[in-house]
Amino acid sequence: MVINTKDELKRFIKNAHEEQKTIGFVPTMGFLHKGHLSLVKKAKEENQLVVVSIFVNPTQFGPTEDFETYPRDIQTDTRLAMEAGADVIFNPSTEEMYVPGSSTWVEVEGDITSVLCGASRPTHFRGVTTVVNMLFNIVEPDKAYFGQKDAQQAAVLTKMVQDLHMNVEIVVCPIVREADGVALSSRNIYLNKEEREQAAVLNRSLQLVQEAYWKGEKSVEVLTELIVKNINQMPLAEIDYVNIYAYPSLKTIAKVEEKAIAAVAVKFGKTRLIDNIILEKRK
Ligand code: PAF
Repeated sequence: MVINTKDELKRFIKNAHEEQKTIGFVPTMGFLHKGHLSLVKKAKEENQLVVVSIFVNPTQFGPTEDFETYPRDIQTDTRLAMEAGADVIFNPSTEEMYVPGSSTWVEVEGDITSVLCGASRPTHFRGVTTVVNMLFNIVEPDKAYFGQKDAQQAAVLTKMVQDLHMNVEIVVCPIVREADGVALSSRNIYLNKEEREQAAVLNRSLQLVQEAYWKGEKSVEVLTELIVKNINQMPLAEIDYVNIYAYPSLKTIAKVEEKAIAAVAVKFGKTRLIDNIILEKRK
């Protein structure tokens, strides 16, 4: 079932609460791939009702970014999400979400939003936290599901929920990759054949850095350089950032002693891809 208005969805949610059903929520911007569908499946396993939102949120795009051209295919998305276990698709218009005159933002401050994607996309996370708040208020989920590919987003949203005592559990699910290691992303569709082939370098370099760490290299400078060198072997790769931080705080560290993240953002042609790996002691 597709619902387009918040009033209709709220009525539906009220009924679900009356029937004491647990609600799992998967917020997305659509153009669903296997990564999103893994979240829907997980939500289905853990809840009695699954809501998937499809909303390309304008406030998380910068003025020169791809909001207008972001891929959209609501028919296919609806079919895929329902097949994966969604009970309801919430697909509101921009006006339905951002009521005229609205001027309220939810913003998580500090390192967690100012480094990595926050440095290259300064207004991005406040757009994400604001819209996710609105969605949580409408859907009132017990659990909400996000992908580890957007590791910084997951960390920011987990912090927001803690800081604001919100009644929802954030569940972070593993990155889903293609056979050659490229992380699934709706933006992969922008890549031409050569760019797509070269994009496999991201996961390869992250695997290398993990091996180096497991072999005993702890220096953030050395590990970072290893990734940079590897990515730079690809002529079409243009690095936006390569960084290693403590995770999930995203504090600066000189050595990887505790849980850390190696995160990369790299442009192939016009397409900016992100990927990451969590560095932890070998289990
Ligand atoms: O991860 C995304 O697709 C978006 O950032 C989200 C969480 C749906 C908010 O618009």
